[in-house]
Amino acid sequence: MTMRINPSILAADFANLERELGRIASADLVHVDVMDNHFVPNLTFGLQMVGRLQEVSPIPLDVHLMIDEPDRWAPGYAETGAFSVTFHAEAAADPVALARRLRQIGARAGIALKPGTAVEPYLELLPEFDQVLVMTVEPGFGGQSFMPETMPKLERLSRVVRETGLDVWLQVDGGITIDTIGIAAEAGANTFVAGSAVFGAEVPAERIMALREIADAHRHDRAPGTGRLDG
Ligand code: DX5
Ligand code: ZN
Repeated sequence: MTMRINPSILAADFANLERELGRIASADLVHVDVMDNHFVPNLTFGLQMVGRLQEVSPIPLDVHLMIDEPDRWAPGYAETGAFSVTFHAEAAADPVALARRLRQIGARAGIALKPGTAVEPYLELLPEFDQVLVMTVEPGFGGQSFMPETMPKLERLSRVVRETGLDVWLQVDGGITIDTIGIAAEAGANTFVAGSAVFGAEVPAERIMALREIADAHRHDRAPGTGRLDG
């Protein structure tokens, strides 16, 4: 499985987003943080903005909804043509029904867990999702420090995904840098969101390549069905 790097445009120059998207065209997906000032104490983009980004982006959109009432609002983001739409477990009234609706529209469905949210209740729902986002900082702001205490959750998910052979991507978001990406890769992540680490670099394309190389060197995935156990 490829290690995917998804730069977060939360760290980009908001006055020049089309140009900023051009600087990360070698990435896998562009991570778009939608915040509503209710679920998190910060406000970013809405539906109209995401729809327009979708039109000009050279790479597909990975939309991360940090909003209340995703059951009501998330389908609209899928309808913009976003590649994936991830909503928060803590905010959704009916995560399974919402995931099914997102898939029906044609997006990959993701569920996100804040650092304090346990993964156990969601393990049996994994077949309903294409991606699980393990937040490695408290959602709301870029530039925070990676929380290593979230890694056991990722290890647990990674084990279940391997044992079941499900095609569920494991994403980490928050504080992912050259120094921390290897830790997350070893714990089982295969999709890495990086905001300040990418846009803070002089040449974002070079940073994307470096992050991908480190993640790959620390990869912890095993082909399903080989019977190999992780250490
Ligand atoms: C935080 C957002 C992240 C943020 C990550 O709530 O979900 O996507 O952009 O930024 P960095 O990589 O700077 O921690
Ligand atoms: Zn995010």
